[in-house]
Amino acid sequence: MGDTFRPVTVVVVGAGGRLGREFMDRLSSLSDLTGLTHVQCDIADSMEVERMVLELQPRVVINCAAQPSVDACEKDRDQAYRMNVLGARNVAHAAYKVAAKVVHFSTDYVFDGTAGHAYAEWDAPNPINWYGRTKLMSEEAVRRANPDSLVLRIAYVYGAHGDNPVTAVVRAAETGARLVLPDDQLMSPTSASEVVQQTTLLIQRGATGLYHVTGKGQTSRYEFARAVATTLGLDVQLVPVHAADIPGRVPRPLRTPLAHEHLRLEGQDMMSNWDEALYEFLVDNCRSPLGSAGN
Ligand SMILES: NC(=O)c1ccc[n+]([C@@H]2O[C@H](COP(=O)([O-])OP(=O)(O)OC[C@H]3O[C@@H](n4cnc5c(N)ncnc54)[C@H](OP(=O)(O)O)[C@@H]3O)[C@@H](O)[C@H]2O)c1
Repeated sequence: MGDTFRPVTVVVVGAGGRLGREFMDRLSSLSDLTGLTHVQCDIADSMEVERMVLELQPRVVINCAAQPSVDACEKDRDQAYRMNVLGARNVAHAAYKVAAKVVHFSTDYVFDGTAGHAYAEWDAPNPINWYGRTKLMSEEAVRRANPDSLVLRIAYVYGAHGDNPVTAVVRAAETGARLVLPDDQLMSPTSASEVVQQTTLLIQRGATGLYHVTGKGQTSRYEFARAVATTLGLDVQLVPVHAADIPGRVPRPLRTPLAHEHLRLEGQDMMSNWDEALYEFLVDNCRSPLGSAGN
């Protein structure tokens, strides 16, 4: 995969995050890959972003930097706006200045979850929390700032890095903690490594625009955790709950499975069913995620 990128210069912004680290790992064979962490480049600072990008002269900028916490976004709306909207625009605009493609990640939370079917790219968004609203605004900001942009909506991402829905189960098994999880909030869990593969293919094909890039099918957080525990043979206490019964929880949309209509129509869909991708991840990583559960 790496070789076909050459001699394109790739910059990953937010390289220290969960998805950013996945890109850094999986594109590490590229001779010209640069990762920028928060310390090296604050995306909220337009001058700094522009200076870094002008210096590096990339052909592709993959932006993994954001505030993805629903609770944190609700708590500090201004900061969430700065990071998710202004930051995304700054990165896209800096990429535009050097004629680079920008890749931006958005979320299934741009939808309100009431459609009763898997959402296609052309379905109307209607976010119900501030995170979803900022991410929807970010999509528009990125498109306006750089026509050569790829906006990929992903959901409930797990992978080899950082805290994620798999490590939560592993840690609960290790500590004996109970995991209380909604069984009525349905979405399409997404493997970070598959996101990297699908993104790479889209970049190689010169794609632009909006794509849904999740695992296929749908499940609840509770059923997902059960699948992790069963596959890994973990003894963990999982407690199903209705999302509405979790006190003080910022509202999340209840049903946001995503249909990959743009990938399907273009014959480019390489995402697996969510349960197959999860099984493959657990088998491939059953030593390392267990070992790095505390990341
Ligand atoms: N994880 C999911 O389930 C999920 C689902 C849907 C969509 N997404 C989207 O996928 C993308 C990646 O998410 P993720 O899960 O990888 O998030 P993450 O693990 O929280 O990583 C985000 C990264 O952004 C960096 N960052 C935050 N503010 C920054 C700033 N002002 N300047 C530069 N860097 C900054 C953070 O650095 P510090 O840690 O140093 O602050 C962190 O490394 C985001 O756009 C998110 O909205 C994620």
